[in-house]
Amino acid sequence: MQNWGGRMEIPKIGLGTWNLRGNECEKVVECAIRIGYRHIDTAQMYGNEKEVGLGIKNSGIDRRELFITTKLCSPNTTYNSVISGVKESLKNLQLDYLDLVLIHEPYASSIEMYKALEDLQAKGLIKHIGVSNFNQKQINNLLDNCTVIPYVNQIENHIFYQREEYVKYLQSKGIKVVAWSPLCADISKITNNKIINDIAQKYSKTSAQIALKFLLQRDIYIIPKSKNPSRLEENLDIDFTIDENGMNKLKDLDEGRSLFGWYKD
Ligand SMILES: NC(=O)c1ccc[n+]([C@@H]2O[C@H](COP(=O)([O-])OP(=O)(O)OC[C@H]3O[C@@H](n4cnc5c(N)ncnc54)[C@H](OP(=O)(O)O)[C@@H]3O)[C@@H](O)[C@H]2O)c1
Repeated sequence: MQNWGGRMEIPKIGLGTWNLRGNECEKVVECAIRIGYRHIDTAQMYGNEKEVGLGIKNSGIDRRELFITTKLCSPNTTYNSVISGVKESLKNLQLDYLDLVLIHEPYASSIEMYKALEDLQAKGLIKHIGVSNFNQKQINNLLDNCTVIPYVNQIENHIFYQREEYVKYLQSKGIKVVAWSPLCADISKITNNKIINDIAQKYSKTSAQIALKFLLQRDIYIIPKSKNPSRLEENLDIDFTIDENGMNKLKDLDEGRSLFGWYKD
């Protein structure tokens, strides 16, 4: 298996854009980049690539400083439709290359799709390729049948669904773990938890910052979504360390199952 080096590495913290639409999406992306975000996560499924592209353009930041991810989904599930789908995303985003393209979820034709991504990467249209929502069996199938190790597997991961064994497995294979819904999509699950709140108080941080830092300290990359400028700043401002005692208390909060009924490992 070859790994694909020499490209911009994925930043530890990125902006999630699910549910951001229209003018609001454009403004949030621009604002996030101005604040300091360098990774923007979008997907064909979100229907906002054009607005993400406008936000990027309006930010005025040099393209080479940004790391842009999109994801392919049905109906782009054949070799040819992956090729045309990526070209469409590039057009929507007004970019001439993508830093990372993921297969959004497993399909019967995942191997065929991935081979198309490998070919696009070889041509330089994509810098890194990967997957999302793949379980261990699906990852192993890719490793057995493809050439390029997936750069990331983007999966549900947060304090209440830690998937420690699977995370370690992916990392042992050289696959980075990116956590989707790192704040559980509904922050009240985090802000209503006394243990998280107590740890937040100890460090003079918010509960959201504790939830995000918990992931970073396990070498997991994060893409929290916020449409609010001060919360965007808050989610970047997590330069502190939760001590071992705090980490252990947070590890004990694992409920061992998806909040959204997604795939099993
Ligand atoms: N690959 C996949 O299948 C998949 C699935 C789901 C999500 N994703 C990706 O992961 C990203 C993140 O997940 P998500 O959007 O589901 O949810 P999330 O990032 O876990 O949580 C977003 C929610 O938390 C609030 N929030 C954000 N920062 C906060 C803070 N500091 N304090 C209090 N509330 C805060 C946001 O409200 P405000 O906006 O009002 O701040 C929003 O309601 C998505 O946007 C998407 O890019 C991928």
